[in-house]
Amino acid sequence: MCGIVGNINKSLVKNNLIEGLKKLEYRGYDSVGIALVNNNKAIDILKSEGKIDDFLSKYKDNKSDGQIGIGHTRWATHGIPSDNNAHPIFDYYKTLAVVHNGIIENYLEIKTYLQSKGYEFVTDTDTECIANLISSYIKDGYSITKAIDFTIEKITGHAAVLILSEDHPSTIYGFKKGFAGSLLIGKSDEQIAIASDFQTLISNSKEYMVLEDGERVVATKDGILISNGKSNVRKKWLPINEDEEIVSKNNYQFFMEKEIHEQSDVFLKNFQGRVDFNKKTVNFANEFNNLDLATIKRIHLIGMGSSYYACMLASYWLEKISKIPVQCSNSSEFRYRNPVIENNTLIVPVSQSGETADTLSASNLARELKVDQICITNTTNSELERITKNSIMMRASSEIGVASTKTFMATIEIFFIIALYLSQINHVNEDLSDIFDELKIIPSYIDNILKNSDKIIKLSNKYSSNNNFLFLGRGQNYPIAMEGALKLKELSYVHAEGYPAGEMKHGPISLIDSNMPVINIVTDGPYLNKMISNIREIQSRKGKIIVLTNCPEKLDSSWYDDIITFDKTDDILSPFLSTVCVQLFAMYLAISRNLDIDRPRNLAKSVTVE
Ligand code: F6R
Repeated sequence: MCGIVGNINKSLVKNNLIEGLKKLEYRGYDSVGIALVNNNKAIDILKSEGKIDDFLSKYKDNKSDGQIGIGHTRWATHGIPSDNNAHPIFDYYKTLAVVHNGIIENYLEIKTYLQSKGYEFVTDTDTECIANLISSYIKDGYSITKAIDFTIEKITGHAAVLILSEDHPSTIYGFKKGFAGSLLIGKSDEQIAIASDFQTLISNSKEYMVLEDGERVVATKDGILISNGKSNVRKKWLPINEDEEIVSKNNYQFFMEKEIHEQSDVFLKNFQGRVDFNKKTVNFANEFNNLDLATIKRIHLIGMGSSYYACMLASYWLEKISKIPVQCSNSSEFRYRNPVIENNTLIVPVSQSGETADTLSASNLARELKVDQICITNTTNSELERITKNSIMMRASSEIGVASTKTFMATIEIFFIIALYLSQINHVNEDLSDIFDELKIIPSYIDNILKNSDKIIKLSNKYSSNNNFLFLGRGQNYPIAMEGALKLKELSYVHAEGYPAGEMKHGPISLIDSNMPVINIVTDGPYLNKMISNIREIQSRKGKIIVLTNCPEKLDSSWYDDIITFDKTDDILSPFLSTVCVQLFAMYLAISRNLDIDRPRNLAKSVTVE
């Protein structure tokens, strides 16, 4: 969840560190800090609660700088966001500065042990026990590298860490244990750069390498030494061939607004090379090239948050279109329930960031069980790709808004195309040619919703003071009800629940009164009459009814309070459009509450702790 940078340079590094942290701020934004080795070979730490702009205004007159430094943008786990708990964290003797991403699970045990040796702790972080543990091994007479190796051994949990030492002022040390986000090391003629993600690294590096689980790095301007605790690890520098993506808001007020509006383009990009609308065929051969899909008897989808809801939706599509049994699991549940995985199962982990700790752990378990996997991700060179070995890229370009929108759309589109592909290679005898024709038009239907968003803006304003919402859907629109409720919670901080509409009378109906708006996804298809019965039941209990529908002509206007319409398609495709409606509703409601759309409170874009 946190972002880490390091820089060793021929010139001063403070600005490089700050520029890197700005790119990583999506990973956490409750506090920020840097540590520099100054001219006197001492470590200066500058840090503050809040976002990078708060840090910059706090230190606007500060002249500290140096040719080596580390930095951190934080998403708090242990200890509230504050100046004191912000990273870098000093050891007790103030000779080591540490930045850390992850959670040390046995930190209390380590803290108690170190306190018994006289170490005092001044922060509430688990990171301080890393700093003090290394320090204590050094005091016991070990070299700093040995001290780091012992520390890696001693801690449990997940950690990506960089360390500056006053005794070794030309070196950045670092290590990685478990899945706490990536640590990538880059180099160019001028510098060695370290960062939590590839996009940040490519702005100043020509080549890179990846630090793996259990590895320790010693970086100086003369080179990189990597060890796994037992021996040195020889790694090749890999070329960076990609250009840095320039990400801006264009004329939109928020990144998220722009990203919602990019969805028809993203949709088109994901067709390219995969769907042939003339021949009505799908070609995924290049992406599935290491897997023998003809042998697949069962599919297990895993993800968290919106990615999990995308998996839920995909389970409907895959079973209906490709006739393969599908199960989907929340990654954090899958990981710990000792899953029974039958032979010929394909596991598909989904993660836009490719870094979600729960999904990485689940996928790693599948790797240990030697199950075939292919991930769906939006991040090249992500840890998830490295675990699964096979990947399908979302082609959504960078998503800056912390809540997922276009990456959710890209994921569900890819799943739909996979369903068509599996149906094709398994010779499922169903005529899907109309579906291809309609799928092709989805991007223009998405644009129609966006062009007519005034109605959704008015509605969001109308309901902006409500603090509870229910979202109901059936079949493939049930996961969209879940996604709509999640978007509203994340962005507007209002309580919202998503339910399969049939479940309503089994409990949630007791919540219905005149203060409870219920957003019902009512589409023209096999669930229409059932959804109509649901809204009638809600109305009888005086609930406020909002319908999102593609068949207003089939609904009597006396049955609802408000209506949002979208184009009619085959019912199976309707989630692509109901998704855009729930995204817009959540975003505009948050705008009318004057909230931070791109960086909602308490969230982070990469959730690198379990
Ligand atoms: C929802 C959201 C989160 C993520 C979840 C998984 O708007 O952004 O719920 O979907 O944290 O993230 P990834 O897809 O990166 O694994």
